[in-house]
Amino acid sequence: MDSKTWVELNNGVKMPLLGLGVFRSQAGEETRSAVRTALEYGYRMIDTARIYCNERSVGRGLKDSVVPRDQVFVTTKLWKDDFDDARRGLEQSLERLGLDYVDLFLLHWPFKGFAQAYLVLEQLQKEGLCRAIGVSNFKQHHIEELFAAGATVMPQVNQVECHPQNSEDELLNFCCQRNIVVEAYSPLGGEGQTIMSDPRITSLAQYLKVTPAQVILRWNIQRGVVVIPKSIHAERIIENSQVFNFELSQDDMDTISSINGNLRRAYDSDRIDQRPASTFPKIVEEP
Ligand SMILES: NC(=O)c1ccc[n+]([C@@H]2O[C@H](COP(=O)([O-])OP(=O)(O)OC[C@H]3O[C@@H](n4cnc5c(N)ncnc54)[C@H](OP(=O)(O)O)[C@@H]3O)[C@@H](O)[C@H]2O)c1
Repeated sequence: MDSKTWVELNNGVKMPLLGLGVFRSQAGEETRSAVRTALEYGYRMIDTARIYCNERSVGRGLKDSVVPRDQVFVTTKLWKDDFDDARRGLEQSLERLGLDYVDLFLLHWPFKGFAQAYLVLEQLQKEGLCRAIGVSNFKQHHIEELFAAGATVMPQVNQVECHPQNSEDELLNFCCQRNIVVEAYSPLGGEGQTIMSDPRITSLAQYLKVTPAQVILRWNIQRGVVVIPKSIHAERIIENSQVFNFELSQDDMDTISSINGNLRRAYDSDRIDQRPASTFPKIVEEP
């Protein structure tokens, strides 16, 4: 059984295959204790972003833990307000997190100016402010546009919506050829999802004596895709981490893959600049 819990990025940095997502975790005790609990139960990666408005709480959760800084992989993302000055964006995120560097810094969406912002990420990485750099919600053509604009570093990671209803096989192939690790956001389908009650998932879970969430997370991990399920509940945080002690057969993998219907819930990244400003979350500073 392949019990490897990490993947090597194209610059040699090791990234855990499982992490805790904190989108929609409330700033304050909710996020702080989710981070603390996750680290206590073996998670070694936390995924936050400027726009989640909980970086300070993530930082406090990290400080509460006895796990040394160099054993935790911390990701944050640049929001559109900082695309004109990615350095300022990262420095302010680091201040909120209480860290000297992040392990992964992502462009959150291909907002206007993304290629120029990426060139700054390359520089920030050289300076050691982020160990790995990457993109999120990027299609193949967005990645190609980086190089047309003068990029010299292949993104290490592309974080996209990816779960059995939206398996992103083509993008996965492209990223695999370019040595870009794909990281699945909303790996359980996101808030209000329906995947976990799909009979193909529930019957597999019953047969394997695991839970539907574990089946779904394991499917992506076996495809080499990093997963960052979000939960604020200790029992679910623990449940979601127990995905390295069983294996799906090729038949099981095929059954889950057959669920795909290209059902993306997130906004179309080609139209992100047209998304009405009022529909984006508002930035609220944490105490
Ligand atoms: N780059 C991007 O644009 C982007 C977009 C979206 C998300 N993300 C990242 O990806 C992470 C995960 O995505 P997500 O939060 O959208 O969705 P998700 O992790 O697929 O699903 C989270 C939802 O599932 C529930 N849940 C968690 N574990 C469960 C379990 N074992 N059984 C039943 N329900 C469970 C959670 O509820 P409770 O919390 O109440 O347990 C929450 O409502 C985010 O937190 C964020 O870090 C990135």
